[in-house]
Amino acid sequence: MRYSIEEWDETHPRWPEFVACLEGVAPEQSPFVLGERYRAHQSYLLVALQSDQVVGFIRFAVQPIGPEAKCPPLSLNGVQLTEAKIHAFAVREEARGQGIGTELQRRTIRRAAGLGCYQVASYSSYGRDANHHIKLSLGFAAQPEVHGDNHQGVYFLMPLRNARA
Ligand SMILES: CC(C)(COP(=O)(O)OP(=O)(O)OC[C@H]1O[C@@H](n2cnc3c(N)ncnc32)[C@H](O)[C@@H]1OP(=O)(O)O)[C@@H](O)C(=O)NCCC(=O)NCCS
Repeated sequence: MRYSIEEWDETHPRWPEFVACLEGVAPEQSPFVLGERYRAHQSYLLVALQSDQVVGFIRFAVQPIGPEAKCPPLSLNGVQLTEAKIHAFAVREEARGQGIGTELQRRTIRRAAGLGCYQVASYSSYGRDANHHIKLSLGFAAQPEVHGDNHQGVYFLMPLRNARA
């Protein structure tokens, strides 16, 4: 079935439909969208629409590289580098397996490049197999890590400038 992807912000009249989709399909991700802490940086939302219904979304914030990891910001030639950090990503169960999730990731990569970001970053727990498959298929670099006591996950990074080897 055909689908389209649109960019919405919080002033969009259909914003509540995105929130309903978020809370229905991925309530565990809601704090990363609606929580105060995640309002510190400019955020962007891409929604996937099928039969005029919100069936999926990806939300990312543009932030300096470093401070989130309690490290100084990174600069190159005196210019502070930014990254598009993905905070929420899901597709309704009945709409999965049609390439919508992969296209949302591709659009994010293009949008982040257009916004001048140095990289796209995302963290995902083990067990998110479809998400890991998409990230690895698109060529994200992967850094497995243990958070806290025993929370296993993977940092995925997509550089947006051509490698200069
Ligand atoms: C991750 C998610 C957004 C993908 O959405 P989608 O629209 O189904 O994605 P696509 O159809 O573009 O691609 C899914 C890919 O994962 C693969 N896949 C599905 N289940 C898989 C599994 N259990 N193990 C490995 N790969 C799997 C599919 O084969 C497909 O790959 P292909 O295109 O190479 O065949 C969706 O599964 C989802 O909402 N999951 C729950 C929320 C979630 O985990 N979000 C990530 C938060 S970190």
